[in-house]
Amino acid sequence: MNNHERLLGILEEDTSDYVSGEEISRRLSVSRTAVWKQINKLRELGYNIEASSRRGYRIVSRPDRLEVSKLAYMLNTQSFGQRIVVLDSTVSTQQDAMRLAEEGAQQGTVVLAEEQTAGRGRLGRKWFSPRGKGIWMSIVLRPSQPLAFTPQLTLLTGVAVCRAIRRLTGVEAGIKWPNDLLVHGRKVCGILLESATEDQRVRYCIAGIGIDVNLNTEDYPEELSRLGTSLKIEAGREIDRTALIAAVLEEMEQVCALYADQGFKPVAMLWEALSVTMNRFVRAHTGQGSVVEGTAVGLDPSGALVVETKQGERIQVVSGDIQL
Ligand code: BTN
Repeated sequence: MNNHERLLGILEEDTSDYVSGEEISRRLSVSRTAVWKQINKLRELGYNIEASSRRGYRIVSRPDRLEVSKLAYMLNTQSFGQRIVVLDSTVSTQQDAMRLAEEGAQQGTVVLAEEQTAGRGRLGRKWFSPRGKGIWMSIVLRPSQPLAFTPQLTLLTGVAVCRAIRRLTGVEAGIKWPNDLLVHGRKVCGILLESATEDQRVRYCIAGIGIDVNLNTEDYPEELSRLGTSLKIEAGREIDRTALIAAVLEEMEQVCALYADQGFKPVAMLWEALSVTMNRFVRAHTGQGSVVEGTAVGLDPSGALVVETKQGERIQVVSGDIQL
């Protein structure tokens, strides 16, 4: 975590009270002048921070709009997010990222939108993407592995987003195979990985990430009201979208580096540790109309979920949805 993230974390701990400059300087191990400079930088980025000479600092409001300059300031990465496109409204950031990838955009290029008019979900579903309330983001990936390994990237993305959410918000999200993030059984984030291929070779993948960040209960349409939740609902406070995007990109970069260095095994171990699917009884709809029932016992080396049936047979579930 870098200093601005830590400073925001300290100020967000209790927004009803002031935190003294002395306490901040002690906790960040920087001088009072450095604290003051960082506070001013946050103000330039749109944070309204009240200062009282006797009591210290208090966040009054956060910037509401996504802006490239704010994100660039918060980012602590080498490649992810070096190019960021922020759109006010778009059909789907997946389409925009694909267009950029076709034009040669590098791994780590990011497209974000305040709203999507036809956000896409897995299995042909729609993705509800209301204005200003969530993170609707697509990232260009350029994997060197063959096509058969792309399910691993889906799981890798789930790990990165889950770690970012836990680190930044304290909300204990868990991963439901393959890549839904749940909190108290309700979905808070969905991931859609789409690949462009040529002769069994992956030209690029687009990792689409949709996180319900600051939706209120009444923002959900009837059909989603019992299925979905937001980080704001779960944490009981507004979440800074920009800081969370920066955290997701940092985690993506780190988990991708781990994958490039050591392969899928350590990523699978992280996934299993964050998963709410492991060791649970599941009913898997494989997408080809067949249903497999049994206990989820782990991931195989390709990223498929291994389900052990009552008869002791181990079946790999490659795609589709599961019920817990
Ligand atoms: C799912 O069905 O769970 C996957 C949802 C993925 C939604 C994200 S939002 C950003 C990107 N753009 C889209 O149209 N979809 C993905």
